[in-house]
Amino acid sequence: MNQAVPVVTIDGPGGSGKGTISRLLAKKLGWHWLDSGAIYRVLALAALNENISLDDADALVSLANNLDVVFQENERGEPQVLLKAVDVTTDLRTETCGDAASQVAAIPAVRKALLARQQNFRQPPGLVADGRDMGTVVFPDAPVKIFLTACLEERVKRRHKQLKEQGFEFSIDALFHEMAARDKRDAERAVAPLQAAEDAEVLDCSYLSIDEVVDKVMTLIEKKVGGTRSKAHTEF
Ligand code: DC
Repeated sequence: MNQAVPVVTIDGPGGSGKGTISRLLAKKLGWHWLDSGAIYRVLALAALNENISLDDADALVSLANNLDVVFQENERGEPQVLLKAVDVTTDLRTETCGDAASQVAAIPAVRKALLARQQNFRQPPGLVADGRDMGTVVFPDAPVKIFLTACLEERVKRRHKQLKEQGFEFSIDALFHEMAARDKRDAERAVAPLQAAEDAEVLDCSYLSIDEVVDKVMTLIEKKVGGTRSKAHTEF
């Protein structure tokens, strides 16, 4: 791991907007982006495809060690994930896959098997890492750590809108229960539970716009890492 490379970690529960915000930040800064949730999702999808039980730790670790996955951008500059050279970007976003991801992510050996894969994203000039344990476990030395949160009602609304835009129909009630259950599992698991790092800045973005949050985080990055905004402006 290249510790000289700056990392901004954005952790928080699902639907808090951390995916959108971390991607925007990475673009503004001209840095790499890690969507760690997508790594857990792709492992879960591979397990479902291969009929591997979501609690079979040995089989999941072996699958994680041999996962043939590529993270790239499509021709429109949007994130794209290939599993065994097949585009699975849309399949990864379903609630079935998210729920399966939350189950495999609760297994300590699985988290350990995926650790180096995540740390390898730390490449110059910098990395914006989105997840649940980026600031606490994966990049504990990150100079900027954000814990992004929003009330469950707002997160359900946002996720519902997002799913609708992606063509998935899901009742608000079902989504509310599903997200509440996922929050509970992610927060209560024994390893790397969802919690803010001690040195993280906690931002409640229930009633903040995306631009307001991005601006707040950019100001923090400038303070802690320095000189990024002018650089970002020359790159974009
Ligand atoms: O952020 P997401 O919804 O794509 O994440 C899917 C699941 O993966 C989530 O329920 C918890 C798990 N996850 C995790 O345990 N640690 C991470 N760093 C990222 C995601």
